[in-house]
Amino acid sequence: MAFEFIDAQLALRQQDGYYRQRTCIDYERDGVIAINGNHYLNFGSNDYLGLRHNQGVLQAWVEGLAQFGGGSGASPLVTGYSAAHRELEQVLAEALNRDAVLLFSSGFAANQALCQALFAEQGDIIADKYMHASFIEGATACAARLRRFAHNDTEHLNTLLSKTTSEHRLIASEGVFSMDGDSPDIPQLVAHAEASDSWLMLDDAHAFGVTGEYGLGSIDAFQLSQQQCPVVMGTFGKAVGTAGAFIAGSHGLIDYLVNYARHYIYSTAFPPAQAVATLHALSLVTQGAEREQLHANITHFRARAEQEGLALMNSQSAIQPVVVGCPNRASMLSTELAKRGLWVPAMRHPTVPKGTDRLRITLSASHATRDVDVLVDGLALAMTSLSSYPECPDNEEKQHGAD
Ligand SMILES: Cc1ncc(COP(=O)(O)O)c(C=O)c1O
Repeated sequence: MAFEFIDAQLALRQQDGYYRQRTCIDYERDGVIAINGNHYLNFGSNDYLGLRHNQGVLQAWVEGLAQFGGGSGASPLVTGYSAAHRELEQVLAEALNRDAVLLFSSGFAANQALCQALFAEQGDIIADKYMHASFIEGATACAARLRRFAHNDTEHLNTLLSKTTSEHRLIASEGVFSMDGDSPDIPQLVAHAEASDSWLMLDDAHAFGVTGEYGLGSIDAFQLSQQQCPVVMGTFGKAVGTAGAFIAGSHGLIDYLVNYARHYIYSTAFPPAQAVATLHALSLVTQGAEREQLHANITHFRARAEQEGLALMNSQSAIQPVVVGCPNRASMLSTELAKRGLWVPAMRHPTVPKGTDRLRITLSASHATRDVDVLVDGLALAMTSLSSYPECPDNEEKQHGAD
């Protein structure tokens, strides 16, 4: 029978505790979400600055709609590229001290497009083991040889670099890792890229809007020149509170992508109104009031969690994981917290390596200090019942392998 595997694969997911289902949010306001008539403090959103509901951003969307209509109407190379897109590109390029910027409908598309366009024929990609699925998918689907170094391990990166044979080498890492919330040693990555004549690419999805003096991510935080980091990818769907993504780099790179990036050329441009709203959100990011609140929440959360003896990871970012080690325990803990009005999603394999299933807490500027207190109290209580859950099986994949 055709596609017989579907039922079997779904049954397998259920049996292993990795079955996924969507949760429908009825509405959200001030960091509170409504699901099936119940209200929860939302600690599961990437809206790190709370800009999705910002009145100015919403107003900018409306003005953009009035000026440009609901959608862009075509792909950017036909008639979908508007003055709003161009302005957003120009503002971003200037802020990041880059020659040019290209907008994409999503970070997923940007990562795929980059890999496919840069590695249509051959080359080497040396990527951190924990790079996001969108990049890894792109890197495996293109003509490059993909090697993955152990997470944040620049010595291993160096070993892998010495095995590369092509003159086209791309070292890839993230400004802030999406599941662990930690960051690489970026100056070390730059040094390795320079020493090996490789390009450095940073996926700044979770750093853009959050880190750096102006909130412009890793480029801002480490004052990275275009030569030091020739490719930076950032997204608007997280801290910026809208949607879409960009790649910033040299005139040559951006012009090349305009000509060869299939996800850009053969896809309808995102709505111009989205560009107008994103521009407004960016002005709020750089002003910094929301960032200040977010960072105060992160500091408060970590201090309170430590007082309660909760095991935290090495993350100074908005992403604060609590690893529990198996999918059922992670789900049970998440359910326990939901009973207390706290929405903290469980992240399970294959999103995270086997044996590192966890709660992924995300903090936001929209949380008040008392919300963070309620979270820590709830976590501390829920953790006490953890020992009554079934034991996690021993898991060999716990250590991140390297290849
Ligand atoms: C590190 C990283 N890169 C890329 C993406 C994809 O971005 P988008 O959600 O805009 O497709 C994500 C989103 O989850 C991410 O976490």
